[in-house]
Amino acid sequence: MIVLGIESSCDETGVAVVETGAQPVPVLRAHALHSQVEMHQAYGGVVPELASRDHIRRVLPLAGQVLADSGCALADVDVVAYTRGPGLAGALLVGAGVACALGAALAKPVLGVHHLEGHLLSPFLSQDPPEFPFVALLVSGGHTQLMQVDGVGRYTLLGETIDDAAGEAFDKSAKLLGLGYPGGPALSRLAEQGDPAAFKLPRPLLHSGDLDFSFAGLKTAVLTQVHKLGAELQARKADLAASTEAAIVEVLVKKSLAALDRSGLQRLVVAGGVGANRRLRAQLDAACAKRGVRVHYPELALCTDNGAMIALAAAMRLQAGVQQPSDSYAFDVKPR
Ligand code: KG4
Ligand code: ZN
Repeated sequence: MIVLGIESSCDETGVAVVETGAQPVPVLRAHALHSQVEMHQAYGGVVPELASRDHIRRVLPLAGQVLADSGCALADVDVVAYTRGPGLAGALLVGAGVACALGAALAKPVLGVHHLEGHLLSPFLSQDPPEFPFVALLVSGGHTQLMQVDGVGRYTLLGETIDDAAGEAFDKSAKLLGLGYPGGPALSRLAEQGDPAAFKLPRPLLHSGDLDFSFAGLKTAVLTQVHKLGAELQARKADLAASTEAAIVEVLVKKSLAALDRSGLQRLVVAGGVGANRRLRAQLDAACAKRGVRVHYPELALCTDNGAMIALAAAMRLQAGVQQPSDSYAFDVKPR
């Protein structure tokens, strides 16, 4: 079975082809991505209307490129998958509209995928894919969740953020430091030159005894430091970036370990954009190695949004029989 997947939930247009066959995990035949980062940079963040318009410009040329790279003809496609949500409504509608139009034109069924399930399953495309069951730490721009994953579609929420997501904490702190958009990678780069112990920043809910997170207070603490430093900020920026990153990472690591303890599982999967963070990876690797826990990440290129994870999630759902593709092309999207 050949699945064409389209991702357009935010500021990346992604298209991919995966194939299911004899192997237990679908194989990625080709994928392509167009990032809108440069376009939004001038505005300091994603402008939804511009995002939608750019998805419209990019999606069909990308699909043509991916089909050519995969060696598949359009007629070979068995199912067309798209991100149904969450994300920006207008941006989602582009991917859903194109997917359903292709499906209708080819008389092939379509399947809407949850964006976070794409992230969650993306490590299955890595050189070192996980096996079920595992604990997942899902850390994206909009979500921070710990989950027990027993199989495709068998997800139990163990804990989540009660306010800001970890990615949001990175992005908002980066903005306060004048680092622009996208903030997470910029803050992380600057942090490498700073002292993570320079500023005492809060670790919210670290000892709450549950698996929930809270990052809104951290942003306020960073703002307070920025005001206190005044003209000195420039000289201390790297230290403040490093201290912010250290606070976020410490909470993510401690809660992930607590989730492993609570579930009794020996396997951790980290997914979503913040999963690209080097400090997070280094600390999780070290802590898990000590406990004999295996950690799995997506390939770095598939940590942030991409079409491969959407095609993969659709293919795995179909293979596992947890969802049937639809012959109705009256699509809807779920921004929230
Ligand atoms: O998963 P993703 O690409 O999009 C969403 O579904 O939200 O995640 C984007 C988030 C942003 O908040 C971005 O700042 C963060 O991931 N991010 C990082 C790094 N790379 C991306 N945060 C910290 N360190 C990084 N290296
Ligand atoms: Zn995402």
